[in-house]
Amino acid sequence: MKNSYLEKFEKMRIAGKLASKTLDMITEYVKPGISTDKIDQMCHEFIRDNGGYSAPLYYRGYTKSLCTSLNHVVCHGIPSDRTLDEGDALNIDVTTIVNDYHGDTSRMFSVGEVSIKAKNLIDATYESMMKAIKILKPGTKLGDIGYEIQSYIEEKGFSVVRDFCGHGISNIFHEQPNVLHYGKKNTGIELTPGMTFTIEPMINSGKYDTKILNDGWTAVTKDKSLSAQFEHTVGITENGYEIFTESDKGYRKPPYN
Ligand code: MF3
Ligand code: CO
Ligand code: CO
Repeated sequence: MKNSYLEKFEKMRIAGKLASKTLDMITEYVKPGISTDKIDQMCHEFIRDNGGYSAPLYYRGYTKSLCTSLNHVVCHGIPSDRTLDEGDALNIDVTTIVNDYHGDTSRMFSVGEVSIKAKNLIDATYESMMKAIKILKPGTKLGDIGYEIQSYIEEKGFSVVRDFCGHGISNIFHEQPNVLHYGKKNTGIELTPGMTFTIEPMINSGKYDTKILNDGWTAVTKDKSLSAQFEHTVGITENGYEIFTESDKGYRKPPYN
């Protein structure tokens, strides 16, 4: 049946919109002095007050509503009483559930002024995600996505994290396919209309190796170099793509004012 995925897309749109609105909402509060726990609590309440659930809460034993990954944290940073300092580079990763469907998106935030190096890393990470999104259409292969990101990032002297990847997403949080952020052109499965997945490159200023801290979640760069990430949830259409998690306020990458 043609276009049989339109109902699924409508649900992905609603969940994705709530996730991006949550990041829009929290943006003005991401300032020196706020704790990542406070960010977690405010986003949790916003999501609940707008008819959704936070997907990470109780997901595989996770106890917070979102992830806050600071500086050399690659992903899955756990909100805590740690307060933000001038110069911090923070990723906030929100995943909502509305009517069983998921919206998954993250953005970088610079707390006050960050270093030129951090700025360049954040910019390159955002651009690599968008370069990959722009080639999405039926017939594009998964390896083409990885190639777009890897070639752009390595040209800049940064590295693409291998240990985590994007994922299929719909009424299931993480499903097939794995969307690698490195790869070779014209390899892997072909994209087809109706597919929904995330692209969420994690890019390090140093080497790509990561390790998990003793809390079982927090992934950090092994060499303590800076790491940045952005994430969108997208769907493949008849002749291109739709981004489900675009900001209503035009917030793409910092600065957001
Ligand atoms: N939002 C993350 C992703 O992009 C997953 C977080 S799972 C958690 O896939 F349990 F760590 F929150
Ligand atoms: Co994701
Ligand atoms: Co996410």
